[in-house]
Amino acid sequence: MNKITLSSSTFFSVRNNEKAKTKMSEDEINSQFGMMIVAGEDTTANSLVWVLYVLSRNKKWQDTLRQEIDNAYAENNGKLDYDRLPFLNAIIKEVLRFYPTGPFTERIAAADAILPLSIPIVTLSGKTLTEVKMKRGRTVVISMTGYNRLSSVWGDDADEFNPYRWLDGRDVMTGTTIGPYANL
Ligand code: HEM
Repeated sequence: MNKITLSSSTFFSVRNNEKAKTKMSEDEINSQFGMMIVAGEDTTANSLVWVLYVLSRNKKWQDTLRQEIDNAYAENNGKLDYDRLPFLNAIIKEVLRFYPTGPFTERIAAADAILPLSIPIVTLSGKTLTEVKMKRGRTVVISMTGYNRLSSVWGDDADEFNPYRWLDGRDVMTGTTIGPYANL
């Protein structure tokens, strides 16, 4: 990857972070920021756009969220604690589940391997498979979108956008749980 030279305030705050025990060199910061910008910018921006889209289509959810934020401001002297905004968190998690900005990824087998399946699959010829034999070099396409809509994990309404699934006490992490954040 080409070196990206940054002159942003973020760059300077990383370089001048007084709490850091060890300092990164400018080369290290430059190398890391290339990845951070690519991985962090469009993913976050697109997820936020989906949040705004969802809210723009549901006045009741807008009102609920506005009320939650107003109450939190009033109760905490004008400070907002993200972890104490349950409806906002529910909307964000449901957006990440329903509209994943990284819909799929890939892995390449570094060696011959056997991939066990948590749920058996039936092939076109009618054979039931509980594992897949992988040859070295084979690419596996992993669908986050598919996982995020599995009814065995998310329930029968997996195909519905419903932020309340995160709030109504139901277990959204049944079956095989793999996600690093909120099982997503
Ligand atoms: C809503 C926001 C985000 C989403 C949906 C998202 C999604 C993902 C996904 C799906 C992966 C795994 C890709 C794979 O393994 O094939 C990933 C990896 C990564 N993300 Fe994010 N990401 C988000 C925000 C960010 C931000 C803000 C940063 C950095 C500031 C970031 C940095 C990274 C990095 C460095 C990796 C690679 C990790 C590794 O392979 O060890 N991401 N992200």
